[in-house]
Order: sequence, then structure tokens, then C-alpha cells
Amino acid sequence: MAVIVWVCKICGEAYISTNDKPARCPFCGAYEKYLVDSKEYDDTGDWDVELNEIDKANVEKALGVEISNTLFYRCSAKKVKEIDGKKLFKILAKVEGEHASVWEKILKLDKIKWEPSETCEAEYKADLEDSHAREERAINFYGEAATAAKNPRVKEIFQAFIQVETDHLHLSEERLK
Ligand SMILES: [Fe+2]
Ligand SMILES: [Fe+2]
Repeated sequence: MAVIVWVCKICGEAYISTNDKPARCPFCGAYEKYLVDSKEYDDTGDWDVELNEIDKANVEKALGVEISNTLFYRCSAKKVKEIDGKKLFKILAKVEGEHASVWEKILKLDKIKWEPSETCEAEYKADLEDSHAREERAINFYGEAATAAKNPRVKEIFQAFIQVETDHLHLSEERLK
């Protein structure tokens, strides 16, 4: 059984596992197709992208969305009483935080200080509904941004994140049934 360093082409993070490729990146949630053996990984150009005015505006807006959602999930992970809710919102906060750092890297920003200003409810169902609305808004906006994107790397990230946020949508949908 070979031990492999898998690298995610979307977020650039690496982790060690065996032959079996996991179905999702454990950091940003990108789908299997974006995971490569580190021996085949080449990040030339991935973090040095030319942004036209539209792409730059959309990436900045996306960063705002991801920061807002990260803070919301951190808040709800703390406030809800249910263990499933705590685990769900905590991992969602981590994934959305990873998305924010991808956009920060694309914008070549230093780690910016986030104001912890998002509010949330202490009630699980209310936070699931808010989560659903947030993910739906993100998916719609990312769809528009992916279509408008001139830069292929920016388009690729928006497309990958649409899939990830759709996973998140299913997580709340299943619990709201
Ligand atoms: Fe990733
Ligand atoms: Fe996200």
C-alpha cells in the first residue's frame, strides 16, 4: 500500500493518505478530480493571476461572502446546543475560511483581520435555514461570476466552489426535512 501526498489544485493544501483518493479535499471541499499526487502537481501560475476589472470585483465580493459565512458558522457552532449542529457548523466554518484564504491569495492580500461581526441564532433550525439561504446566495453569485470570468484560473475556482457550496446546501436540506 503506497502512502501518497495528495495536493488540492484549488486550495493548494497537501495531506498524506494512501492510494485511495478521498472524494473531497479535506480543507476546501473541492471534488476528487482536483486532487493530484504531489509528484504530478505543478502550481505554475495558480497564484499569480491577471485579474481584469470584472474578475477583481467578483473575487473581492466572493472574499466578503466567504468571510461573512465563516463568521456566521463560527457563531452558530458556539451557540447551538445539538452536537450534530456544533460539528456541522464548525466544519463549515473551516471550509468557508479556507475559501476565504484562497481568494486572499488570488488577490495577493496579506491575511486580513476579520471583524467578528456576524450574528446567529441559538436555535439549530433557524441557523440551518440561514445556512441554506447563505449557500444558495453564494451558489447563484458564483455561477454568475464563473460565467463572467475571463481568467481561466478564477473560473476554475468559482466552478469548484459551486460544487462545494452545493454539498453544503444538501447538508442543511437533509437536516431541515
Ligand atoms: Fe482544497
Ligand atoms: Fe465557500
